[in-house]
Parts: sequence; C-alpha cells; structure tokens
Amino acid sequence: MSTRDKITLATLRSMKLDRRPISMLTAYDYPMAQIEEAAGIECILVGDSAAQVILGHNSTLPITVDFLVTLAAAVRRGAPTAYLVGDMPYMSYHVNHEEAIRNAGRFMAEAGCDCVKVEGDGRIAPTIEKMTAATIPVMAHLGLRPQAVHQIGGYRAQGRDAAAAERLVRDAKLLEAAGACAIVLEAVPAEPARQIAESTDLPVIGCGAGPFCDGHVLVLHDMMGLADGPPPKFVKQYADIRGAIRTAVDAYIEDIRSRKYPAAEHTYKMRAGEASVLADRAAGI
Ligand code: KIV
Repeated sequence: MSTRDKITLATLRSMKLDRRPISMLTAYDYPMAQIEEAAGIECILVGDSAAQVILGHNSTLPITVDFLVTLAAAVRRGAPTAYLVGDMPYMSYHVNHEEAIRNAGRFMAEAGCDCVKVEGDGRIAPTIEKMTAATIPVMAHLGLRPQAVHQIGGYRAQGRDAAAAERLVRDAKLLEAAGACAIVLEAVPAEPARQIAESTDLPVIGCGAGPFCDGHVLVLHDMMGLADGPPPKFVKQYADIRGAIRTAVDAYIEDIRSRKYPAAEHTYKMRAGEASVLADRAAGI
C-alpha cells in the first residue's frame, strides 16, 4: 500500500522547477504496476508498445482502444498514486476531433488515467487544442513516432541535422501553445532535446533523448530484458528477466519429467480415515 500523495501534473511541474528528474516506465498489467508503484516511480505509461511486447505484432498499429483501456484500468488498480498516461492508439484520434475526444475520454473515465498521449508533429496541434478544451490533459509525443513508421521509413532517430532539429523545437512550441501538458521526445539527439526542455515550462520526458530532459521513460520489457530481440541503442538493460523465466520453466519441465514435482508438500491430503474408505469402495469391499 502506497503512503505517498497522488502524483499530479503539479508534482511533475514542480519536479522540473526543482530539477528533480522524473522517472517513468511503461506497464501493461496489475502486478508490474504494483511493483513500479512500490518502487516509487512517478509516471506510468500504458503504451501502445503493448502491441509489440504483449501481443507480438511487429508494429504498434494494430492495438485498439478497448484493449488499452482494459490494460490501463488494471495498471491503475496496481498503481493508485502514479501519474498514469494512457497511450492513444493509431487512428483513434486522427479521423476527427469528436472521435479523438470520445476515445480519450474513455482512458480518463473508464481507466482512471491522468492524461492521454498522442503522437504528432505541429500538425496535431488543433486536435490537442480541442481535446484540452474538453478537459483532457494531453501529453504530446514528438521525434520518432512509431505510429508513423510507414511514413518515416523505419524506426530511426529524428532531428539529426540542424534543419530537422529546428523543426522539432518549433513543433514543441506549437504543441505547448495548443495546450499540451507535457512532451515525450523519442530518439532525438541531446542538443535539440536540451533546447526543447529549456525553452518550455512543460515537463519534457526523453525516451532516448539524452541527459538534459526533465525525465526519462523506457519500455519495461526492454529495460528488464523480457523483450524478444535486442532493444534499441538508447536502452539500458537492468535485468535478464527472459533468462530468469526460461531457467524457471526449464527447471519446472525437468521436475515434471523426473517426477520431483508435485511432491508431498504440494499435494492435498484426504481427511483422516477417508483414503481407506475410498480404497475399500473402489475394491468393492
Ligand atoms: O508506447 C510506448 O511505450 C511509448 C514509449 C516508447 C514512449 O510511446
């Protein structure tokens, strides 16, 4: 049970002002959320990366609002005081503003999120403005935008030349002016990330955006070594959970094959005298 106060946008803003780095991770289920909450993480993102790390797709595109809202509600139950960010899936906020608001409202009302996250450059500003006007706080996701993978032509760092970096800085200003409550910057060099973090009052959360951001986020499965295949260059791996699970599953199979499991301590006992009654009846006595 957490004893800290609820983390709010005001908490994140004051952490930025005090230069205290904000920690953020993804989570997709109740037990992981409980662990992150107990560890004191400030922000949890129920990312559309679930499409890849939970469902095994090769992009984030196939995930649905229904699925992510269900996961977000489970994460909220496990992490009642974290600042909870619900990731809006591909095409859940692009068709028109009404759909964007309705879908975002589900993350807020059904799952108990504190804000939603949308990917986009400056062109997403009008959508953010409408969602914000409808009382929905919106975190803007700039830089590498996995939902635009087919436009970008792959998962690669953004803003690596001066012109592209300036575009990112300009886009961040547009999104702030539209009412965004925070910014995620993915796969961006440290220099433009620093300019963005220093030129806005919004908390700027880097995901592979160097050391000058106000906070940092990673996909849980990447940092704990549970993902399938090597993680992106910017990920620091803190554990080998895939290896640990494999070791446990190997040992379980071996125990079954060698009849070490289940042992007496894993087996229910009949009440005194009942086993012989059963045996007698089976023998027709
Ligand atoms: O979906 C996700 O996990 C994300 C992070 C990579 C920021 O958007």
